[in-house]
Amino acid sequence: MGVTLRRVGAEAAADVHAVVRAAFSGRPPLDPPTAALAETPQTLAEKLAAGGGLIADVDGAPAGALLLDPLGDLLFLRRFGVVPGAQHHGLGHRMVEEAVELARQQGRRGLAVLAREELPATVGFWRDAGFVETGREPPYRELVRWLPQRHDAADADAMREVGRAVAVTLRAGDLLVLTGELGAGKTTFTQGLAEGLGVRGQVTSPTFVIARVHPSLVGGPSLVHVDAYRLGGGDELDDLDLDTSLDEAVTVVEWGEGLAEALATDRLEVRITRALGDDGGVEDHDPRVVEVLPVGARWRG
Ligand SMILES: Nc1ncnc2c1ncn2[C@@H]1O[C@H](COP(=O)(O)OP(=O)(O)OP(=O)(O)O)[C@@H](O)[C@H]1O
Ligand SMILES: [Mg+2]
Repeated sequence: MGVTLRRVGAEAAADVHAVVRAAFSGRPPLDPPTAALAETPQTLAEKLAAGGGLIADVDGAPAGALLLDPLGDLLFLRRFGVVPGAQHHGLGHRMVEEAVELARQQGRRGLAVLAREELPATVGFWRDAGFVETGREPPYRELVRWLPQRHDAADADAMREVGRAVAVTLRAGDLLVLTGELGAGKTTFTQGLAEGLGVRGQVTSPTFVIARVHPSLVGGPSLVHVDAYRLGGGDELDDLDLDTSLDEAVTVVEWGEGLAEALATDRLEVRITRALGDDGGVEDHDPRVVEVLPVGARWRG
């Protein structure tokens, strides 16, 4: 099966229309019926002109299609369909990955879809493709797949600036899991977070304590800074009674990968790496890359 994907505009309206008709008329009837079957080449041409679309050709014939609908910082996928004869060959997932690439190029925070909740297989498809449910408005469920946001930090000051920028998006109850090798800049990032949140006290590597609480100076959430490096496992993390403070604080866990996830299904995973590789940096030039990946429904809106 030779599959090619192409990015299309209004000129492809007839092809998209043929795919939408074949794909959606093959589905069980819904109440209210899907609006996809009311589309005409004209209505599709207008939408393609506005946001573009994708067509997947199988052996040269259009077999899958979707419309792209940029809405704020999310890229919505609409009229997503694969013709009956081409289903179960991974075509849908290929189309999703192409849309991910586009959303990345456009600098979006994520991809979104509305799925009919009467179709569990459809909802399951989106979950398999890395989407999480972010809202329900019967008969629809909204699902989002977050994209990692990349920040470059040329030096420690720039790293603190990234932390300040991330702090703006946070509220009480949020959890950040920081990963990155020794000296990557996790504590430096946390210093920026602390500045952004307006909390009291110097953020340092908690050498003698495993967790330190920085109360807010501005009536906001406090910052709980945890270094899990010396922690044996999840049990010890529970012993810190972090559960109680989670609701009222922003919690940052260095070395928390594999430990902190159990505390909250919604979290920000922050991964810090050396841009020039392990041996690439020199004393006054050792840039870092910070990747921030939202996990869960919390990050919608
Ligand atoms: N581009 C950069 N971003 C962040 N830190 C940098 C950068 N370039 C150099 N540095 C230096 O690297 C060090 C990072 O130390 P930091 O304590 O933040 O790392 P860490 O990941 O918390 O380490 P640990 O694993 O020991 O907890 C600091 O001394 C900082 O000044
Ligand atoms: Mg540290």
